[in-house]
Amino acid sequence: MNVIPLLERLSDGQFHSGQALGESLSVSRSAIWKQINRLRDIGVDVHSVTGHGYRIPGGLSLLDRGRLLAELGSTHQWLDDALDIRFTVDSTNLEAMRRIRDGANRYLLFAEHQSAGRGRRGRQWISPLGHNIYMSLLWRFQSGIAALEGLSLVVALSVLQALSRFSLSGLAVKWPNDVLVNGRKLAGILLELQGDVDGPCHVVMGVGVNTRIPEAAGAAIDQPYSDMSAVSGAPVDRNDVAIALIDSLAQNVERFERDGFTPFRQQWLEHDAYLGRRVEVRSGDHVSTGIVAGIDDNGRLLLDEQGRISPVFGGELFPSVRPV
Ligand code: BTN
Repeated sequence: MNVIPLLERLSDGQFHSGQALGESLSVSRSAIWKQINRLRDIGVDVHSVTGHGYRIPGGLSLLDRGRLLAELGSTHQWLDDALDIRFTVDSTNLEAMRRIRDGANRYLLFAEHQSAGRGRRGRQWISPLGHNIYMSLLWRFQSGIAALEGLSLVVALSVLQALSRFSLSGLAVKWPNDVLVNGRKLAGILLELQGDVDGPCHVVMGVGVNTRIPEAAGAAIDQPYSDMSAVSGAPVDRNDVAIALIDSLAQNVERFERDGFTPFRQQWLEHDAYLGRRVEVRSGDHVSTGIVAGIDDNGRLLLDEQGRISPVFGGELFPSVRPV
């Protein structure tokens, strides 16, 4: 039995009896019970109450490919072939990387659940089903990897711009590519590249946005985080978030491909959570300390170390939202 029709019925947050669910899906009550357990195994919080049946408290907002295409298809025609929505994958980034081997040049994947969501530096990205956004955009760039230095900042800015369409105050970016709300992590970005330094290359831009983190999943997250529902005080429609993300990301990536990072520099400075603040930048065993003086035209961090300003190529900024 396919579990998606069952999930769709439970997504309204109301009680449904095993019998009614069985009748509407033409299966036995025990088949329903087995599928409910399957949903629980992948982290869906299904309550059962004797005499009432099953319900998912708060309901779920599931992604709808038809709606995304109806809203975006005329502006971004490539989506017709490229947009894919899966119930569960190991990691949308891994799946998009596999598509490169199959010859794909552009592919956009959303998943309702990731069994092995990947964060930066080998960390895990907790990905409960039907909550949050897990997406990866595969894009082939004519230029080589060397020309893509500022891309991860462009992706972070795109996420910030998309989320600005919702009632969220306190949005900011953290170099090189975190999106924060009131100093807590709201979205994470993981770029994976394949290709030559100076020839065409493929990039997978993985974006995870917290729309609503259920309590049980939140307990497993090892850094201060927030989610859109908590900040806006209202339920968030994940399709609206997906639409805003695709739109701003596609427009900005096209612009970056044409004009490079320079047009984005000023926007970054306007939203930089750490501009003018004392930080440590850690890259492997190397630690630099100084004041954030901005970024350069390639998206490198400019660090003022006792009056000497120099660009930083990579690393992690501290104070981090993650406890040291
Ligand atoms: C970070 O550590 O801040 C980066 C997190 C990136 C998570 C997203 S979720 C969609 C995509 N698929 C993954 O496995 N990771 C990225």
